[in-house]
Amino acid sequence: MSNITHLTEEFYQKRQEAVDPQNSPEMIEASYVGWSSVAVQLEAFEIATNLSWINWDENTSVLDVGCGYGRLLDFLISRKSYQGKYSGIDIIPEFIEKAIQIHNNESDKPESQFLVGDFLEQTLDPNKFDVIICLGGLGVNQDYPQPFGQKSLEYAKKLISKIVRLSNIAVSLYFPNADQIVTTERKPRMAYYKRSDIEEMFLDACGQRCQDMKFISYPTQKDRRTIVQVKLSKN
Ligand SMILES: C[S@@+](CC[C@H](N)C(=O)[O-])C[C@H]1O[C@@H](n2cnc3c(N)ncnc32)[C@H](O)[C@@H]1O
Repeated sequence: MSNITHLTEEFYQKRQEAVDPQNSPEMIEASYVGWSSVAVQLEAFEIATNLSWINWDENTSVLDVGCGYGRLLDFLISRKSYQGKYSGIDIIPEFIEKAIQIHNNESDKPESQFLVGDFLEQTLDPNKFDVIICLGGLGVNQDYPQPFGQKSLEYAKKLISKIVRLSNIAVSLYFPNADQIVTTERKPRMAYYKRSDIEEMFLDACGQRCQDMKFISYPTQKDRRTIVQVKLSKN
């Protein structure tokens, strides 16, 4: 098992152990994939898909990197009337097993597929995805048990570069924002990236293709939860 897989599995296992079993099934599900509440998860979906450059009614194709149970697919269908193709990938096999179970036998849904594995290790067709959404691919401290450092930065660089390479039109990427949380409040297993580092990684990866970039923090502008939206010109 690679270190990325090992650290990610351990990270989510610890989070799951801390979940209160008295919570509602929806809350338990959101917590199992790392969100502090269903509302925070839905807000992430809302912001990540609120891309002014995308018309969701038109037939686009989405890649959901770190898809968890694939709830973004349900959100796209119910809130954006999305009918295009959807592919979800997650490094944790149990998440994908459940995602397949949840979305199996839904013949009225758009064409969807779920893949297990580390996104960085997957061979994917570069011209297949119009929009790539990644909500949580950057949450784990890849230097653990050491403090956040070089390994996490290298990991993010590779992830961003691959996302940009695979996307035709737009990218939404969630990251915990280091500029908006004091050091003493940081959790050792979590990664926190500076906005300037994420911006630089995108600019390096996109080159001339970067047409626009927006950073949105939520629920308030000062929150550590941040989504960067990037508009790309065609490959
Ligand atoms: C915060 S969770 C979000 C899940 C889902 N996107 C949602 O919002 O409900 C992040 C997910 O990313 C997955 N992940 C992290 N690194 C990954 C990688 N390198 N390749 C594939 N999946 C990864 C984790 O296993 C986890 O399920």
